[in-house]
Amino acid sequence: MEEKEISKAVIRRLPRYYRYLGELIESGVERISSSELSSRMKVTASQIRQDLNNFGGFGQQGYGYNVKFLYSEIAKILGLDKKHNVIIIGAGNLGHAIANYVAFEKRGFIMTALFDINPERIGKKIRDIEVLPLSELEAYIKENEVDIATLTIPKTAAKEVAERLVNCGVKAIWNFAHTDLNLPEDVLVENVHLSESLMRLSYNITSVEKSREEQK
Ligand code: NAI
Repeated sequence: MEEKEISKAVIRRLPRYYRYLGELIESGVERISSSELSSRMKVTASQIRQDLNNFGGFGQQGYGYNVKFLYSEIAKILGLDKKHNVIIIGAGNLGHAIANYVAFEKRGFIMTALFDINPERIGKKIRDIEVLPLSELEAYIKENEVDIATLTIPKTAAKEVAERLVNCGVKAIWNFAHTDLNLPEDVLVENVHLSESLMRLSYNITSVEKSREEQK
């Protein structure tokens, strides 16, 4: 495949294409035109063609897209054809929820260990994943390959722990702590803030209510 810089906006849309294509495969659809995909996904057909053309264009005039091929190519672009070992720092509510979510494993994200400072949590298991003391973090990373570290700890602890992770060579952080980490540029940080998504919903509720009021 042609090596080409893919824009961040396209990358952000790829997981959604991937999900829709997965559903099409499950329902036995082998090929789909950009206009069919467009009406399902509520994205314009030209956007779909433009996005998918980034990878050398998998579509054929009059044939549409081969769903399985497109699905596996997008998986490769997203790195889902590889396994990623993931650790979770903070075995509280959120850490538990993530560790318990088996579907991540189907996508190649293998949860290998949790870390905590609370003696009551240390030594417990979530599924078969052990909660280790944070004091063992460095030794663990030295002995085991860690591709992604998840931070589900309070924001007051997040920066310090993130620096420890970086010092051990961890290059990707999935950050749920409500703080910006300001790490070196070669460290990839993906922030997930459910409350921001909820605030957007709140904004939309408010604006819908406002326009209803104005129409009265
Ligand atoms: P929790 O209190 O249930 O769990 C936090 C866990 O972190 C506890 O087990 C605690 O012992 C541990 N911990 C504290 N300091 C630590 C350290 N230095 N190293 C290792 N472990 C440490 O809290 P919950 O509900 O799981 O939330 C965790 C964090 O995630 C909170 O900061 C919360 O604000 C945030 N959060 C973020 C969301 C998001 O969308 N980004 C959604 C929900 C929570």
